[in-house]
Amino acid sequence: MSINPDKRYLLAFESSCDDSSIAIADLYERLLIDNITYSQDIHSIFGGIVPELASRDHLKKIPIILDKIMIRNDIHPDQIKYLACTYRPGLIGSLLMGIMACKTLSYSLDIPFVGVNHLYSHIFADFWKNSIQFPFLAMVISGGHSDMFMVKDYTGIERIGMTVDDAAGEILDKIAKEMGLSYPGGPEIEKYAGYCNDKDDLFDLPVPMRSKNNYNLSFSGLKTACYLMIKEQRRNGNISEEFISKLSLSLLNTVSEAIFIKGKKALRESGIKRMVIGGGVMRNNIIKKDLRERFSNEGIDLHIPIPEYCTDNAAMVAYLGMIYSERGLSDNISLNAYPGYE
Ligand code: KG4
Ligand code: ZN
Repeated sequence: MSINPDKRYLLAFESSCDDSSIAIADLYERLLIDNITYSQDIHSIFGGIVPELASRDHLKKIPIILDKIMIRNDIHPDQIKYLACTYRPGLIGSLLMGIMACKTLSYSLDIPFVGVNHLYSHIFADFWKNSIQFPFLAMVISGGHSDMFMVKDYTGIERIGMTVDDAAGEILDKIAKEMGLSYPGGPEIEKYAGYCNDKDDLFDLPVPMRSKNNYNLSFSGLKTACYLMIKEQRRNGNISEEFISKLSLSLLNTVSEAIFIKGKKALRESGIKRMVIGGGVMRNNIIKKDLRERFSNEGIDLHIPIPEYCTDNAAMVAYLGMIYSERGLSDNISLNAYPGYE
């Protein structure tokens, strides 16, 4: 194999939760070359993520994905000039697997690497194809977060609102489990919501944090309201498919309304007209359609990443990694994994 020495690639790792993902970008062309994501299915047996199993699975999958992505793109290790990995927030054991792979390559190939904040990478997930003008507001609505950010630049990001207790994706997973659906619950709830024939007579669920004068979101009250309804239904017999589909659609509409209320408040108070909403929950077509309509009526330019880049992936880590490399940023070998945002 002849190596083109002019090629300069970046390799990015994402392993913050239960997806093992590696991406390659061309640093000269500023182009995403490939992204491979393996979503761990072992957790569906337990109805939620088991951290120890997640990290063990990353350890198994990362070398396999790395081989695959290098071989199928015909890339030689000497052409890798920069590395990036997610280092926070997330499950410590899972994060460490990606960080260690990154550090090992950095040391052995003698090239720089940088740690990327997982929530920031969600914000820029779609920037490979659709970048938007700064400043803008961003929300990350995922399994672990329902947060709001003021984004002035790639390195000028301020978190202005956060998850107070349960995040949106977290309650979808928990409520799905309570209804006997499989994990992850978000896609299951979307599927059942599609079966609902009672669209004009939905359940009246409490909209989280509606009147609180901040940009925080809290979904545990909504979760409890759903739990009580499921319990009541069970007391009256088995929970029917009709009930599941009606509760699923009511729940998605309520989650969407909560996101809209907080997003609109931040947009109005900042005077900004552009918004990015990313994270796994934004794969949901019902929420996406509702938010697109509502924000469009307010004259807001709303950007939602393509579905495969809403859930965790390394392409979004590669994008910020590329920006950091252009700005001469890097981390040293002592970079650690952290569970929190800061
Ligand atoms: O961003 P992500 O992949 O991981 C975190 O950083 O948390 O998000 C995972 C979350 C899970 O709670 C999952 O149920 C939810 O995203 N999710 C969905 C859908 N697909 C994934 N929620 C609603 N509808 C979907 N289609
Ligand atoms: Zn995520």
